Amino acid sequence: MRDLATPALERGQVEPARRAQGAVGDGIASVLAFLGMPDIVSFAGGFPDPETFPREQVAALFEEFAASCEANAFQYAPTRGLAGTLDVLAGRLEALEGRRPAEDELLVTSGAIEALELVTKSFLDPGDLVVVEGPTYLGAIQAFRSFEATLEAVPLDEHGLDVEELERRLRGGMRPKLLYTIPDHQNPAGVTLAAERREPLVDLARRYDFLVVEDVAYRELGFSGETHPSLWSTAPDVVLQAGTTSKTFFPGVRLGWAVGPRDVTSRLVDAKQNTDQCAGALGQRLFEESVRRGWIDEQLVRSRALYERKSARLLAALERSMPEGSRWTRPRGGFFSWLTLPPGASSVELAPRAADAGVGIVPGTLFFPDGRGADSVRLSFSLVDEASIDDGIERLGSVLAR
Ligand SMILES: Cc1ncc(COP(=O)(O)O)c(C=O)c1O
Repeated sequence: MRDLATPALERGQVEPARRAQGAVGDGIASVLAFLGMPDIVSFAGGFPDPETFPREQVAALFEEFAASCEANAFQYAPTRGLAGTLDVLAGRLEALEGRRPAEDELLVTSGAIEALELVTKSFLDPGDLVVVEGPTYLGAIQAFRSFEATLEAVPLDEHGLDVEELERRLRGGMRPKLLYTIPDHQNPAGVTLAAERREPLVDLARRYDFLVVEDVAYRELGFSGETHPSLWSTAPDVVLQAGTTSKTFFPGVRLGWAVGPRDVTSRLVDAKQNTDQCAGALGQRLFEESVRRGWIDEQLVRSRALYERKSARLLAALERSMPEGSRWTRPRGGFFSWLTLPPGASSVELAPRAADAGVGIVPGTLFFPDGRGADSVRLSFSLVDEASIDDGIERLGSVLAR
């Protein structure tokens, strides 16, 4: 007899779509799991420090919007974004990257992750090849996988993506449709693409006909404030830049942008009409006003100093506590250092033992599409309380030594 009391999904009679079976894994859930656990010193989640959240300024803006019943802030927005938000984003791109996008080259997204989803949805058929950095951002692996793309990782070193290795593979017949890179203060490796690798990279895109997707999530968080030219400003014909306000403003607004060739961005606008139709207007207005009043730039000065202090503290603690044979990257911005364990040690085995000792870490395997990374750990210093960094790394060192 048919069981009509239990919903069909629970009875397992409604098959999930093929693209939903693509083993995206529970990676992000395992990163979030340590959040809010009381006795854990967590180096797991790449979250901004709440100290950087603009609480009073946002409260003041809410009051202004409410008092004037500002329609823009409360209403639906155009799919491409509110005109004022697009204007401040274009102005920031011009000021920070030396190129102001034309109106049809830019759109506002619901976070950088949505920009990645939109480009994936618009350009990838099942089986299409995406080249990523090995290691790379877990959310991007999941976005590409959810549309059944094939992923290949090209290694990076302390100067970012190994562009010579990429060229060797392209000469050997590799034909990606997209190349996804995080050139500045990379997640998870904490490295930055050298200035002299940037032109050669975009030249390869032109020669081999692929689109570069440049994720600039940490670009504005360089400790010195200095940056190399962005890939998008270097080659606006072959680069789509995905940006976010999550690390410079606050992630609760879920706000970002995509800027690139108009043929590409117009596809993203079409795709966005089939998802959320528009990024939240309230967040767009909060961000716009915060830029116009100079608050974002003021906060950036404080945020860079905070994260630089935390990074320095982490590096000093690693120096004291890590066993012989380990090495780690020395970030010049962003949220992460990438720890390579002594030969023979496995981060997959280390993670649960570290958790037992009160330390949250993410094994390196989550950041590769191909199972590599067991010799590495991502250490995020952004959220961990400054005073707990020494203790956490000391405990991690003792677990490793055992
Ligand atoms: C490299 C990278 N891209 C994108 C994101 C997500 O950005 P958003 O919050 O705007 O979706 C993150 C967040 O951790 C990230 O590290």
